[in-house]
Amino acid sequence: MGKEQRLPNFDELLRAAQASRTRAYVPYSKYAVGAAVLGSDGKIYSGCNVENASYGLTICAERNAIAAMVAAGCTSIEAVAVVTADGGTPCGACRQVLSEFAVGETTVVCAGDTSSHQFSVAELLPSSFKLS
Ligand code: THU
Repeated sequence: MGKEQRLPNFDELLRAAQASRTRAYVPYSKYAVGAAVLGSDGKIYSGCNVENASYGLTICAERNAIAAMVAAGCTSIEAVAVVTADGGTPCGACRQVLSEFAVGETTVVCAGDTSSHQFSVAELLPSSFKLS
């Protein structure tokens, strides 16, 4: 048996992100975000944004999804989906955290109500910080 490369199923990933988005806790911004990452273990991990009355304590959907993956024992991301109303892309902090667990070629799909765009992690964060 050869080494099999599992092709990311973006429909499934987008559905997981959308399901998580319905649970976003966003009483302050009203901007609900759902994210899902496909781990190298073949499993999908999802997260939503969780806001706080002390605004700076808010945690983004992407980082919650990644934290769920790492907590489950997986530290490598094969593909990412982010769902918002307007197709927004991950913030700078989330781009840095994505780059910790993905490679530059990893695809990030950002979907909105009416459109969706694909990026690579390297496009979103060129020359990301890495400890040598
Ligand atoms: N947000 C995310 O969940 N992910 C991002 O990459 C950008 C921003 C959240 C944080 C806050 O709850 C809301 O979107 C508005 O900034």
